[in-house]
Amino acid sequence: MAEYDAIILGAGAAGLFCAALAGQRGARVLLLDHADAPGKKILISGGGRCNFTNLHTAPDRFLSANPHYAKSALSRFMPHDFLGLVEAHGIAWHEKTLGQLFCDQSARQIVAMLLAECEKGGVDLRCGTALGEVRHADGRFHVAGASAARLVIATGGPSIPKLGATGLAYDLARQFGLKVVQPRPALVPLTLAGEDALFTELSGVSAEVVARCNKARFREAALFTHRGLSGPAILQVSSYWQRGDEIGIDFLPDAAGEWLLDAKRARPRSSLAKVLGETLSERLAVRLTERIGLIGELGNMSDKALRSAQARLADWRFMPNGSEGFAKAEVTAGGISTADLSSQTMEARRVTGLYAIGEAVDVTGWLGGYNLQWAWASAHAAALAIAEAVQAG
Ligand code: FDA
Repeated sequence: MAEYDAIILGAGAAGLFCAALAGQRGARVLLLDHADAPGKKILISGGGRCNFTNLHTAPDRFLSANPHYAKSALSRFMPHDFLGLVEAHGIAWHEKTLGQLFCDQSARQIVAMLLAECEKGGVDLRCGTALGEVRHADGRFHVAGASAARLVIATGGPSIPKLGATGLAYDLARQFGLKVVQPRPALVPLTLAGEDALFTELSGVSAEVVARCNKARFREAALFTHRGLSGPAILQVSSYWQRGDEIGIDFLPDAAGEWLLDAKRARPRSSLAKVLGETLSERLAVRLTERIGLIGELGNMSDKALRSAQARLADWRFMPNGSEGFAKAEVTAGGISTADLSSQTMEARRVTGLYAIGEAVDVTGWLGGYNLQWAWASAHAAALAIAEAVQAG
């Protein structure tokens, strides 16, 4: 049986980075994946250009049962640290919006960079490997014909199964007695039914809105789809959404004061649809007007009715009946409970040598490069701890 210092399960963002860093610090690392190639989610990330980090990374941009858990790892490996590596590899990048950093050319460059770093660390990478059973005996982990004193769970979450995603991380967690916070689809389109479903006729129409769900509030684009709601603003609030919650949308976040009464006074012959159509797409303006039921000239409408229409447009309530699920979710919220892991090293508190990193853990970032930054930061924390343990003998 081949012997290593660490076996890492999952050659995605977190696994590749952890393997490279631990290998470069002297650990003999085996990196295993059942997919035929590494980093498949990285390749499709950011629409093929990989939004590899976010300059505004801060712990409050992550969801977790323990909001403090991610602080240590995030503070020890910052967006600029990853950017330094990207630049050292000559990868051109740009800031798109809201601190989101993308490759100018292709996400392939990030995967190539990670593979080059793995090679530098002498990592033994094996793709297309069915893992089979993981055994733990005499302080060593045995898997796929190899053994090591340390095992890193980096197999991500079950979102987008067609890319090879599975719930293996949770099975392993349970096998080793770690709790799992109920996994659920996040950064996912929401579906509409009943009267709300009328909006699906607007499929393809988008608007810059403020979307709210519970305490979360995001100003970005919302998009109507043939099944319901999507677009960045909706994906963001979806991570905070649970069945039975309403989504509130302000369709005119820049409209100030009593703008509808002002419009009535300035243009009494105009209609609500016309006024809305100056800011929103015409189809959306017409649909909102129909739903509100104020058809005709503004001058013929009472101030009370217009005030109530304005209030409704600032907090339009949708009651999603579900989400598009793991098949379409960009990430999985929930996962291996942080209560059972060290926030310094990502090692299980009660199983020496067992680590969990990346999306497998109950830490979920906002849309915009935060999830990859968590993958890098958690991988870095675990890699340093593993290298230290190896050096200590
Ligand atoms: P990741 O999923 O990357 O890797 C897990 C690895 O484990 C995979 O290689 C998989 O094959 C392997 N594996 C799973 N089950 C296994 C099993 N049973 N046996 C063996 N191997 C197994 N984030 C971001 O910050 N910026 C972005 O631009 C995007 N864009 C984006 C687009 C789309 C369409 C998706 C689906 C996701 C994103 N994300 C993103 C999210 C980001 O891709 C994700 O959070 C990270 O890839 C998570 O990294 P991990 O290494 O934890 O898991």
